[in-house]
Amino acid sequence: MSQTGEREQWGTRIGLILAVAGNAVGLGNFLRFPVQAAQNGGGAFMIPYFVFFLILGIPLMWIEWGIGRHGGKFGHGSAPGMFDVIWKNRVAKYFGSLGLIISLVIMIYYTYIESWTLAFSFFSITQTYFDLHTFDAMRNFLYSFQGKETSAYFSSIWPSYIFMIVTFCLNFWIIYRGISKGIEKLAKIAMPMLFLFAIILAIRVLTLGTPDSANPDNNVINGLAFIWNPDFSQLGNASVWLAAAGQIFFTLSVGMGTIQAYASYLKPKDDIALSGLSTSATNEFAEVVLGGSIAIPAAVAFFGVAMTTQIAKGGAFDLGFVSMPLIFEQIPFGSFFGFIWFLLLFFAGITSSVAMGQPIIAFLEDEFKISRHKATAILAVVVLISVQFVVFFLKYGFLDEMDYWAGTFGLAVFALIETILFMWVFGADKAWKEMNEGGDIAIPKIFYYIMKYITPVVLFVIMIWWFVNDALPILVLKNVNPQNVPYIWGARILMIVLMLGLFFLIKLAWDKNKKKVI
Ligand code: PHE
Repeated sequence: MSQTGEREQWGTRIGLILAVAGNAVGLGNFLRFPVQAAQNGGGAFMIPYFVFFLILGIPLMWIEWGIGRHGGKFGHGSAPGMFDVIWKNRVAKYFGSLGLIISLVIMIYYTYIESWTLAFSFFSITQTYFDLHTFDAMRNFLYSFQGKETSAYFSSIWPSYIFMIVTFCLNFWIIYRGISKGIEKLAKIAMPMLFLFAIILAIRVLTLGTPDSANPDNNVINGLAFIWNPDFSQLGNASVWLAAAGQIFFTLSVGMGTIQAYASYLKPKDDIALSGLSTSATNEFAEVVLGGSIAIPAAVAFFGVAMTTQIAKGGAFDLGFVSMPLIFEQIPFGSFFGFIWFLLLFFAGITSSVAMGQPIIAFLEDEFKISRHKATAILAVVVLISVQFVVFFLKYGFLDEMDYWAGTFGLAVFALIETILFMWVFGADKAWKEMNEGGDIAIPKIFYYIMKYITPVVLFVIMIWWFVNDALPILVLKNVNPQNVPYIWGARILMIVLMLGLFFLIKLAWDKNKKKVI
């Protein structure tokens, strides 16, 4: 029952590359990366980061493009159908549910964070926060916007709610328009703008010099040194390695199901080898070169290394939403720079969040034969209902709980499963052939061995390590404020309900389509 002919397709090669790069380049590159680097010792972080890029990131990228294009040949754009094709076993499709739930859960909270960036670009151009001059005041501005505190600026969650709705509508409008008319078109506009803004900002930051001559150590050079001077003694620290692995997964969007979904719209002989490599390289350029040259060097130049580390430890968003605004109000044309900083984040975010919807859309379209428009409507309702909890319970750790299970732990689990299925069950030789088919370059042979042996073993070790170190304590609610417990359970129940719903849909689809695939 191959319906290759009916499935949508990417319009152009460059459009496809930009769309996958847009998928990967996200808030992770400009917000998460600097915070992770600063929290984990700056330069010390970069060594495990590059090691994992080579043995996990790149291999998984190729594996996911391979699984995706292969599944697409059989009319499957999401993991349940793809796993069913590569592993002839009744349970395969249920393992594939992870490739739906992870991106769905991330989409639910990510869209909300993305809406803050839109709001802050508006606050920058209107100079709303320009009379706040201390960390505490700026933090209070952010937290009150998020509904965690109150302030003279925001006494309710509603301004934030409105930006969430606007962001939500934009996302679903693009998803509604489809692969080439929606997602690809967005990427063709947003990605060049994103790079332009990021380059302007990086140049601005790199020319900051020493803003305060009374504090000569606070300068851009020390900011760059902070990221790039490796402290080898930190390499024995397991948590630095785990953080680096987590960042590689998140930033490249691997272990989620979205790359596979995008690749399923390729033609059977379209190149994977070079495209997978170029999208990974684009992501790393955006992350390490551009992402690494903005928030951290700017914070070091204005506040010093010690303070920058402290800001990063203070909260996931403090570097981007607290220290950057404090800098913008001090530099000429700061309102403009603030505007493009947050707009850049918004573009990075939206090209990622539309990708997160794609696995479910493809699943509904391919397995239930419903139209893209209907599938979009169903997904929109689920996301809209779920996001309410994220907005209203943010201060009780609802978002963090979802982020841990879907945005961190789940990625290693799913990546491990897909690697084993593709490289061992489907078979390394067949998989290798599939990944190289139609390739504009030949994937270096060493990656055959990396993908077959090293990637799965490393994934397994990371998963177990994560489980013991973080997942177990988080599961049993260690170090949790008792007041948050009901909400954390709420987040878990929401994720379980979504997962059960997906199991049910998978069963329903396969019962209906009893006809043999292939
Ligand atoms: N890679 C994106 C980022 O860096 C996040 C993402 C997660 C994208 C899940 C798609 C799917 O922000």
